[in-house]
Amino acid sequence: MNRILPTVSAENLTQFETLALNSSMNLADGHARQQLTAAQAKIVAELPDMWAEAVLRPVAEIEQEAADSFFGMLGQHSHPFAAGRTLSCYSSSLAMEILARSLVTSSDAVALIHPTFDNIPDILRGVGLRLIPVEEEQAHDDDLPAELLRQVGCVFVTTPNNPTGRVMTEARLTRLAEQCAEHDVVLALDTSFRGFDPDAQFDHYTVLDGSGCRWVVIEDTGKLWPTLELKIGWLVRSANVDLPIEKIHSDILLGTSPLILLMVKRFADDGADGGLTELQRTIAENRALVRAELAGVPDIAFVDEHARTSVERLHVGSRLALDVWSAVRSHNLYVLPCQKFHWARPDEGERMLRLALSRNPSTLVTGAQVLRSALLAAPGLQS
Ligand SMILES: Cc1ncc(COP(=O)(O)O)c(C=O)c1O
Repeated sequence: MNRILPTVSAENLTQFETLALNSSMNLADGHARQQLTAAQAKIVAELPDMWAEAVLRPVAEIEQEAADSFFGMLGQHSHPFAAGRTLSCYSSSLAMEILARSLVTSSDAVALIHPTFDNIPDILRGVGLRLIPVEEEQAHDDDLPAELLRQVGCVFVTTPNNPTGRVMTEARLTRLAEQCAEHDVVLALDTSFRGFDPDAQFDHYTVLDGSGCRWVVIEDTGKLWPTLELKIGWLVRSANVDLPIEKIHSDILLGTSPLILLMVKRFADDGADGGLTELQRTIAENRALVRAELAGVPDIAFVDEHARTSVERLHVGSRLALDVWSAVRSHNLYVLPCQKFHWARPDEGERMLRLALSRNPSTLVTGAQVLRSALLAAPGLQS
């Protein structure tokens, strides 16, 4: 019998994710919660030695090594480091906040990919920026209208996107950067999920610098490894960006922990040494596991057939995602209803759920079984 739960109110995706934090079946947030690999566990066991090393060595040296290893692992070999062009932050959300506060000093509107993770629009709106949605298909398939580019100070694209997993190709990025250069608009990218998809690992910095546009990239170590929220968000910018990024960064922080930077370097070196490929394989296996457990349920569909990121969208057919969310929550399973990813038109996400795949297989199988029962019990007649 279902437990009676208090009604919940969640104003954003993170509040939905917070509800899940203490559940053993948390398939809500996109943070990595799978077991450490043997190589990663060995690195964690060496943290006391890294602490001693961090105390002794200059932070700038550790920071550069961490950035070189992380960006190198992801194929971003021409990322800049000198002259404060790669700033480390406690998280990618903080990098986002710094970017938003910088942008609002010289523009009042941003063209933002739609859908995407809602803390991006929330942070941009939070500083007073007006947002104009750019449909994902449009950003990937066509030039942006000149009329749109005349209205905004920045075009913001999440690639790979969360929740869709869609990756901007090198050809599209090249053209978009050219358009941004022509209109003197900043091109900003959030590449937090790039580690999961080799297609997102061409050297973006060569493309961006080649275009001559003003650009900012937010990179993130936080989605890849189960490091208990020890992570770095990197805020990288072009030499010509002409935004007060460094000043605003220094308004907020002196720097990140050299212990975390050393840990990131070690995880990234392991990633380059085969760990990243292993992670991509694990996510593919987890995706297959979830799809197999839900196979044969009527009136559902996996929306992003070719996605490789650590999240999976499920269309629940004629059911309402919030109804399914409530039904599985009464069995202690947490997933994410997708409305809030569709920050401009939430209705478009009301029949989709997002499932996190960076989990142990046993959690995914149990979670998928609970979800399967709930979907079979709710064939969609209520809508
Ligand atoms: C694309 C994207 N960028 C940034 C963030 C924020 O990450 P964090 O909570 O580590 O700051 C998220 C969170 O899931 C995300 O999906």
